[in-house]
Amino acid sequence: MNRKEQYEFGIVGLGVMGRNLLLNMADHGFAVAGFDLDKQKVSLLKTEVSAEHIVEGATDVQCFIGLLRKPRAIMLLVPAGKYVDLAIESMLPYLDEGDIIIDGGNTFFLDTDRRAVALANKKIHFFGMGISGGEKGARYGPSMMPGGDKQAYQRLHPVFEAIAAKINDEPCVAYIGNGSAGHYVKMVHNGIEYGIMQLIAEVYDIMKRGLAISDEKIQETFEQWNHSELQSFLIEITAEILKKQDDNSKLLLVNLISDTAHAKGTGKWTSQNAMELQVPVPVIDAAVTMRDLSFYKSERAIAAHQFQLTNRDDDYNFELIVERLKNALHFAMIVTYAQGMAQLHVASQAYNYEIDLQQVAKIWRGGCIIRSACLEDFRMAFAKNPQLPNLLLDKEIAKILQSRQNDLRWLIKLCADKGIPVASFMAALSYFDAYRSAQLPTNLIQAQRDYFGAHQYERIDMEGIFHTQWD
Ligand code: 6PG
Repeated sequence: MNRKEQYEFGIVGLGVMGRNLLLNMADHGFAVAGFDLDKQKVSLLKTEVSAEHIVEGATDVQCFIGLLRKPRAIMLLVPAGKYVDLAIESMLPYLDEGDIIIDGGNTFFLDTDRRAVALANKKIHFFGMGISGGEKGARYGPSMMPGGDKQAYQRLHPVFEAIAAKINDEPCVAYIGNGSAGHYVKMVHNGIEYGIMQLIAEVYDIMKRGLAISDEKIQETFEQWNHSELQSFLIEITAEILKKQDDNSKLLLVNLISDTAHAKGTGKWTSQNAMELQVPVPVIDAAVTMRDLSFYKSERAIAAHQFQLTNRDDDYNFELIVERLKNALHFAMIVTYAQGMAQLHVASQAYNYEIDLQQVAKIWRGGCIIRSACLEDFRMAFAKNPQLPNLLLDKEIAKILQSRQNDLRWLIKLCADKGIPVASFMAALSYFDAYRSAQLPTNLIQAQRDYFGAHQYERIDMEGIFHTQWD
């Protein structure tokens, strides 16, 4: 194409994600243009373009913007933080009213709100869009969570629906809500991702260290689980990972990887904001904490020496154990999603996002990292009651939890006995037990607060606020 202003969509930042999304759009027949200051990245894009694609690359921002049809739709795929601001600043002189900028990175939602307000003053729309699915997702079908102005979304949805992953022919993208709703939902997606990854790591630890099950049997177990109600992307890749050999030593690669886990921050933000909103998400909190604890490697080595356990010899029935572990994991995974969804329910009201939780469950069924068979059950629960405050209150979900809770109790007893840390499983069970307690001991906490600080309390037998002179 050589006419100006004809390209349907522009992408700024031609790293792996940007390039793959651009090629995905081109596969679906859209004329697309990419921009990067790095000439090599633009050249790399050109080598991947095929004859049917209509793709242009630019290293000059004015020239890039001149290629796009108005109102322009420009997606940023640059590292979150100052690069987003720099990219916006560099484009601003060439943009017109009504143009749309979409930030496709893992940006902190309050930064998105700030940018949306600043750009609205210039009559430019700003979307925060969570994109999940990694490199492959970007190339062949991600799950996408766009938030921003609903009217402006009309300009974007044909492209997004074409490139998204599909489940039963339905695209894994939907308008999420106002302001920073898209980035908020992606943040919570990542919080759930942290929780489930930690649960999987814990169950792996129980099998390997706790029960001395062979690497081969553990791998087979995950593979089988992926054909059960646990079917999910994270279980699937775990089974793949557990059979990968190191090229040189031919040993299992996972056994050669250091156990200090890094994090870019989205899980921590989920926990921090949950505290802010007073929504309990303890499985996610525990997952963040355990990644942090993994960094204290040298201290852990000393403590390991200091506190040794005398291992008992146990005689286990392998089949039975695997079934119980599966049920416990299923239970804890559901609780993790329930916590994340409860956070979205509260945040939607607190921030006026107007998030439709059925849509969120629907677009998470495919393309994203936390896609799993469970999400269809959750979609149905929110279809029945769009205002459901917590998935644990849905009757069908409750039946699944009810039938599996004893297996989680068994797992925790086993791990306490063997000294295997299962912070996330414990958090899942404690949350469940607290949530199903009509009476909690927090009456005592109220009394203590009133004792030392005259903070007052309410009573169950009469209206009003009371203070007692306790001593
Ligand atoms: C996704 C992933 C993606 C990224 C995580 C990694 O949905 O595709 O969540 O966004 O891989 O941000 O996060 P950590 O580096 O914090 O583990």
